[in-house]
Amino acid sequence: MIIAVILLPFFIHAQKSTIISPGLMWPDNEGNHINAHGGALLRHEGTYYWFGESRLRKGENDRTNYGVGCYSSDDLVSWKNEGLALRVINDTSSLLQPGCVIERPKVLYNSKTGKFVMWFHHELKGQGYKAAMTGVAISDRIEGPYKYIRSLRPNAGTWPVNFTDEQKRAIPGESSLKSWSEEWKQAVRDGLFVRRDFEGGQMARDMTLYTDRDGKAYHIHSAEENMTLHFSELTEDYLDFTGRYYRVLPGESNEAPALFFAKGRYFMFTSGTTGWKPNPGRLAVADRITGEWKALGNPCRGTEEENSITFGSQSTYVLPLNPEKGIFIYMGDRWVPEDLYNSRHIWLPVEWENGLPVLRWKKEWDLKEYR
Ligand code: GAL
Repeated sequence: MIIAVILLPFFIHAQKSTIISPGLMWPDNEGNHINAHGGALLRHEGTYYWFGESRLRKGENDRTNYGVGCYSSDDLVSWKNEGLALRVINDTSSLLQPGCVIERPKVLYNSKTGKFVMWFHHELKGQGYKAAMTGVAISDRIEGPYKYIRSLRPNAGTWPVNFTDEQKRAIPGESSLKSWSEEWKQAVRDGLFVRRDFEGGQMARDMTLYTDRDGKAYHIHSAEENMTLHFSELTEDYLDFTGRYYRVLPGESNEAPALFFAKGRYFMFTSGTTGWKPNPGRLAVADRITGEWKALGNPCRGTEEENSITFGSQSTYVLPLNPEKGIFIYMGDRWVPEDLYNSRHIWLPVEWENGLPVLRWKKEWDLKEYR
């Protein structure tokens, strides 16, 4: 009996799983599948926090029970539900009223202000994906509750840094070009939608946040009808845009950006634009965060079928687990459109091949091997 009591802590420790099983249900401390989709992790004081879309469960009609979910963990495997970090506001005068859509939330810690700042893709109630706005919220505590500040279209009235004077001038008849015609595609690459959205602000759909090594933070979003990514610099307090922004991979239809810095270069996983359906993954590289970015093709190393759907996932974040040693975790979503809560989390270790990150399918893998 005494021996059993003495050995119990070791036994419990030995039981602690370090296994990641991509695509399976992932129960939290209450036994419920982790409801944090299109999300990202943030490490704070030794603990990992996972923020993501908290989707209504099938049959759940209470639309006030919706927003950004937060979970905490010390080991990346067992997660404690910290509840909704941001919740919709039950007031029809608020843009964040029930019925609106909140996607791909990300949180940064601002060491100058001591605040946590959350940005998210925000679509307005009853408008489908038309609004293409980004929302911002703030909190003193990492797990929230976050206070909603506002939603906007970024960079109204300013041109991208990497835009020529020629591109600032409209081409006669450009707004009536036939979508997907060669002339239209060329006009899009040359900034057709940047010009269209100049006054009202640029579109902001799929998004991520990234803090560069010099402390500057960027809001990276699919703009220009999802045709071009914009890397938009945030103000020092991370609560607004400075108006400096860069067009990245113009006209190449990238979504789901997930950035990381490794081996002296910036890498970015993205997807194409096929809605909830997965498509071939994409990798891009740059020497500076503001570009030039170069597309390098599909980072997946599986069967043709697996590569064509990124192992059934769409990128959302890359966790720098031990960046000096090149250890990163790819995180993606396997969406279940008719039951988004049930969407699965696809976490895979990033592997390296000729200095470039690649992904291979693993039915299960052990975090212990990636420290
Ligand atoms: C995807 C996007 C998701 C969601 C979905 C809606 O392309 O990455 O975040 O917006 O479209 O159809």
